Amino acid sequence: MMTFDEAKRVLAANGQEQVLRFWKQLKPSQRKALLSQIESLDFPMLTRMRGLLEPSEAIPQEDPVAPEVVEWTPELYAKALRVGEKELANGRVAVLLVAGGQGSRLGFDGPKGAFPIGPLTDQPLFYFHARKVLALSKRYQARVPFYIMTSDVNHAATVACFQKNRFFGLPPEDVIFFVQGMLPALDQDGKIMLDRPDHIFLSPDGHGGTLTALAKNGCLADMKARGIRSIFYFQVDNPMVEIADPAFIGLHALEKAEISLKLVAKRDPHEGVGMVVKRGPVFSMIEYSELTEEQATRRKSNGDLYFKYGSVAIHVFSRAFLERESKKKLPLHIAHKKVPYVADDGTIVKPGAPNACKFEKFIFDVLPDAKRVLNLAFDRAEEFSPVKNAEGVDSPASCRHDLQAKWRRWAGIPEDSPIPIEIDPAYARTAEELREKGIRL
Ligand code: UD1
Repeated sequence: MMTFDEAKRVLAANGQEQVLRFWKQLKPSQRKALLSQIESLDFPMLTRMRGLLEPSEAIPQEDPVAPEVVEWTPELYAKALRVGEKELANGRVAVLLVAGGQGSRLGFDGPKGAFPIGPLTDQPLFYFHARKVLALSKRYQARVPFYIMTSDVNHAATVACFQKNRFFGLPPEDVIFFVQGMLPALDQDGKIMLDRPDHIFLSPDGHGGTLTALAKNGCLADMKARGIRSIFYFQVDNPMVEIADPAFIGLHALEKAEISLKLVAKRDPHEGVGMVVKRGPVFSMIEYSELTEEQATRRKSNGDLYFKYGSVAIHVFSRAFLERESKKKLPLHIAHKKVPYVADDGTIVKPGAPNACKFEKFIFDVLPDAKRVLNLAFDRAEEFSPVKNAEGVDSPASCRHDLQAKWRRWAGIPEDSPIPIEIDPAYARTAEELREKGIRL
C-alpha cells in the first residue's frame, strides 16, 4: 500500500494536492481507503484528460460518405446461415454483453439488466439475453460462453441477480463476469473531484473500456483458449436483439470482416443513433448531431435518406482484431455533467447545473483501424426496441408492446390482437423454432 508521503508526492507532481486536503480529519480506515484510490489512479491517463480541457483547433475533415450496406437476399441468407451454424456448432462464437452503465435516465434503482420487462412474467432483461444464449447452445450442441461487463457501480447486484435466478439455466462456468475501469471527473480547473472528504468521485470509463477490461481480466486469453473466432457484442437495454444471429455470424466470416455492424433505417433524419460513415477508405462512427442539416436531410433520387441507417450497437468482432486493439489507446470523449462534490467546509453539494467533465471511451472508435467492415441492414420491428426512458419512446411500455407484436406475428395472430403473449427464448428463439414446436393458437 502506498504511504501518505508517496501519495502526496505523486499528487503534487500532477497538480492534484487537493485530493488530500481533508487528510487531518480522516479516521485511519478512511485514510487507508483514500490511499488505495490514489494508488489505482492512472496518471498518464489523467494527463490526457487534462489535455482535452484545453481549447484545440478543429482539424478540417473530408465530408462523410454513406457506406455500402448489405441487404439480405434469400440466397445470401441461406449461404451465410450455413456458415454461421457451423461456427456455432464448432464452439467458435462468444457472446459479449456490456452492462456497466448506470441507466440513470430510466430512474431504476439497480442494474439495468435486472429491470422487469417480460410482459406476462416480469422477467428481467438479463433473462431474455441469457435464455437466448441457452437456446443457441442447445440448438447447436456447443458451448457459447457469455461474457458480461459490469462496473463497480453494479457488479455485485448483477452477479446476485444471476445467482438468484440460477443463471437462467446457463452453466455458471460459461457465464463470465468482468469489471470495467473507472475514471475520475475533473472540475473546470482540471482538478480531480472528491464526492466525500475521503473519496474520489469515479464513474465507469465507457463501453470502450471493454477492450482494456477484457484484456486485464484474462477474458481475451480465455476466449483464445476456447477457440473463439467471433465475438457477438450487444447492449443490455434491448430484449429484442437476436443474439449471435447465425446468419450474421456467417456473413461476418464469409466477408472476413474484422467488425460487422447491424444497421437500422432511421425513424427520421434526426433520430439520436450513431451513424457509420466513410472518409476515403476509413470508417468511423459519428453522432447524428455531427451531420449538417443538409447532410441529415439529404435524399437519394429514390426518396431514401442518403444517411439512411443508424447503428444500434449490435456488432460482431473478430477476436484477433479485438486482441490487437486492446493494446492501443482509444480516444476519450468528454461530457459536461452534474457531479456531487465536497465544499471546503466538508459539506456535500449536489449541483443544479453541469459543473464537471466526465470522460468515456467508445467501443466503436476501433472502426478506423478495421481493414474489413461489413454493414448489414436489419428490420427494427424484429430486433430493436430498447428500454431507455421511463415513459414514451423507448420506454418499458413501448418495448413490451413491440415484444408482444413480434411474438404474435411469430404465432400467426394479428399484431394488435388483445391476446397476451410471452415466449421463453429457450423454448423458441425464432419464428421458425416456434413453428417446429407445432404450436397452434
Ligand atoms: C447508445 C449509442 C448510440 C446507439 C444507441 C442504441 C453511444 C455513445 N451511443 O446510446 O449510438 O444508437 O446506444 O441503443 O454509445 N455501458 C457500459 N459501460 C459504460 C457505459 C455504458 O457497459 O461505462 C453500456 C450500458 O450498460 C449499455 C450500453 O453501454 O448497455 C449503452 O450505454 P448508454 O449510455 O445507455 O447508450 P445510449 O446513450 O443509449
